Amino acid sequence: MNKNIVCIGAGYIGGPTMAVIAKMNPDRKVYVVDINADRINAWNSEDFNLPIYEPGLVDVVKEVRGKNLFFSTDIESAVKECDIIFVGVNTPTKMFGRGAGRASDLQYWEATAREIKKFATTDKIVIEKSTLPVRTAAAMAAILNDSTTCQFTVLSNPEFLAEGTAINDLIDPDRVLIGGPQDAAGKIAIEEAVAIYAAWVPREKILTTNVWSAELTKLAANAFLAQRVSSINAIAGLCEATGADVDEVAKVIGADSRIGPKFLKAGPGFGGSCFKKDVLNLVYLCESFGLQAAADYWDQVIKMNDFQQERIVSRLFTEMFNTLANKKITLFGFAFKADTGDTRETPSGKVARLLVDEHVRLSITDPKALANARNDLSDLSGIDYVEDEYKAAEDADAIVVMTDWRHYPTLDWKRIFEVMRKPALVFDARNCLDAAMLKDIGFKVLNIGK
Ligand code: NAD
Ligand code: UGA
Repeated sequence: MNKNIVCIGAGYIGGPTMAVIAKMNPDRKVYVVDINADRINAWNSEDFNLPIYEPGLVDVVKEVRGKNLFFSTDIESAVKECDIIFVGVNTPTKMFGRGAGRASDLQYWEATAREIKKFATTDKIVIEKSTLPVRTAAAMAAILNDSTTCQFTVLSNPEFLAEGTAINDLIDPDRVLIGGPQDAAGKIAIEEAVAIYAAWVPREKILTTNVWSAELTKLAANAFLAQRVSSINAIAGLCEATGADVDEVAKVIGADSRIGPKFLKAGPGFGGSCFKKDVLNLVYLCESFGLQAAADYWDQVIKMNDFQQERIVSRLFTEMFNTLANKKITLFGFAFKADTGDTRETPSGKVARLLVDEHVRLSITDPKALANARNDLSDLSGIDYVEDEYKAAEDADAIVVMTDWRHYPTLDWKRIFEVMRKPALVFDARNCLDAAMLKDIGFKVLNIGK
């Protein structure tokens, strides 16, 4: 009989991942538990007002919630009932003590291990879903297997989904990675985990490794992606200085099949909850193992990213006659990318703060992320948060397109031009608008890397 599953942590990773696992494994019960009762209530809300926005998620949850997918705060019962326990709690950057600003804060993670140990009455397979430093599984196994009659086998099954495309990424992943101990118990546990995914993922896409490779691969994969974004952004500045066009350069670089076209879009820099945290974690690991040159190498990916947002504000400053004080600037987009309401580490946050430092009258519009924007910037006063783009643009001296929301190119830019102060500037930091059309209307246009 197929084993039941619980995931501890009902966030961006736990909710969508378990919803798809439940959909594809109708003969298993899947529980998602969390200490945050508000979050669980939202997952259970009658009108499907889920705690996160993700295209296609509501449909999957509608299909399986109450059938074989259950959201609850009752961690004890779920741990007792299920033989397979995913751990998808948050692992933010540690902000205190040893490794502050770089290492992973593992307190939520260790608390979860202790909860599992407290409530378990039978043997369990514990699967790391969170992104963790290499060798965390050893710590987890040590905590779980210390003076207990139950046997715990710890696997690593890092998640590669991206926000905004989470459901597609889960249904049709490039690969699934499962790392486990190479002894007999470990191999049986790996097969149990493989079986969950084999319900819909072709077997050749399910890759198995030892635990340490799996843990490190997740950090390395995010670091490689972040590095590509920083690399193209480093070229973008050079394009602006020389008359080259970064989109043309990226297109030709990406046509080399050894490099490939993805993740070469210059922009305001990467955001999101994971790239910065995971690269910093890698930096910390390299330092801990005495690999200072490797640590510096990866640290530069973050420095380059910060520089990109500073550059946006510097260029605005120069283009707007070396003073931004009392001018109105409207940020189009606060989410860290399109199709999500997530604003964690969003480049818009940093740009907003730099603009407020310059005494700008700031207005922010976003179709999904205004509530988070308000919350993130709650320490700053005088910012307008406006849903309607046309209203947000009223009287503005400049618009900065920070998020590549799909409908931005289809807005009535003539109407926007009419309500702005002149000269009216658009800084398209995502290179997603038709610059020639904007210039025809009368806008002064800035782009990244052009
Ligand atoms: P999140 O903050 O959205 O969700 C984590 C949840 O864990 C929260 O709801 C929190 O209340 C809960 N939690 C914390 N401690 C708990 C405990 N002791 N018992 C029960 N619940 C507890 O975080 P997230 O974005 O889902 O990320 C989780 C992990 O997944 C991180 O390690 C992250 O790096 C990794 N990851 C995230 C993504 C993504 O797209 N967000 C993608 C891949 C990997
Ligand atoms: C990223 C990875 O893509 C996932 O594989 C990984 O699972 C996840 O992190 C994680 O570990 O949390 P995510 O952060 O959701 O996913 O979104 P991405 O699509 O990777 O975008 C990250 C940032 O890079 C965004 O701000 C995006 O706008 C920016 N980006 C991306 C660019 O500026 N240019 C690009 O070409 C691509």
